[in-house]
Amino acid sequence: KKDFISTQDLTREQIDYILNQAMSFREINQREVKKIPTLKGRTIVNLFFEASTRTRTSFEIAGKRLGADVINISSSTSSTQKGETLMDTVKNIEAMASDIIVIRHSYSGSVKFVSDNTDAHIVNAGDGLNEHPTQCMLDLLTIKLQKGRLEGLNVTIIGDIAHSRVARSNIWAMKTYGMNVTLFAPPTMLSVGVEAFGVNIAKNMDEAVSNADVIIMLRIQRERMAKLLIPSEREYSKLFGLTPAVMQKAKSDVMVMHPGPINRGVELSSVVADSANSAILDQVENGVAVRMAVLSFLAMSK
Ligand code: CP
Repeated sequence: KKDFISTQDLTREQIDYILNQAMSFREINQREVKKIPTLKGRTIVNLFFEASTRTRTSFEIAGKRLGADVINISSSTSSTQKGETLMDTVKNIEAMASDIIVIRHSYSGSVKFVSDNTDAHIVNAGDGLNEHPTQCMLDLLTIKLQKGRLEGLNVTIIGDIAHSRVARSNIWAMKTYGMNVTLFAPPTMLSVGVEAFGVNIAKNMDEAVSNADVIIMLRIQRERMAKLLIPSEREYSKLFGLTPAVMQKAKSDVMVMHPGPINRGVELSSVVADSANSAILDQVENGVAVRMAVLSFLAMSK
């Protein structure tokens, strides 16, 4: 496979392969000496046009653990500030014999556009509100490690789904595994026609959480919407926030997940974020292993 752009074009066998590889890399990451030479001599460039803590750092750690040379470029210090186009930027990075370019950009479809016009392997680290496929892989790995399976699990995604690339990537892949996906969101933050993806829409918080094996909470992605917020942050927190009171309605062993960054006290109370049900830091840990698996999967492919 040349590129890793979307969970829509991944087969179940390819996802299984990546998850299995990630499980092996996870064991290596727990050793005292974590570095292996799988990508020795290869060059990976992280090209980020949007802020990131987890994704950029974990791609850098993943590349270095595999022995690659890793270069980080952010938009604020690149020549895009002087008017250079995204495509020209990528062509110039490719000219320096880069093997894999990891791109985050605020425009949906921008990473696919680049991948169609370059020979280097391209990885989507999040494009606008479209997709975040490696976040999906680490979410699946975290669920599989904790629940022992994916098939048949009930997953509820709550919050700003319309602007969430994480929700989109997860819905595609979770349906591939026969997981039952329920969404609960303000009508202003639920994509029109989303039912066509084969998901259930919950009518209230009780219905959303009561049967869930996994709850994925989403923050309001203000960077992708107009200034006026409907519902307001206070209303969102009251109606769509996960609090200890709401958790009383959920299964005792429900997994609480969040792609980060968390807005504590808005979509998720600190008590829940830091509780035994929370798998949020497990997601972050698994992000390194998953990105090692994706980078090596591409590097070994034609
Ligand atoms: N989950 C995620 O994409 O986090 P960052 O924005 O910090 O990379």
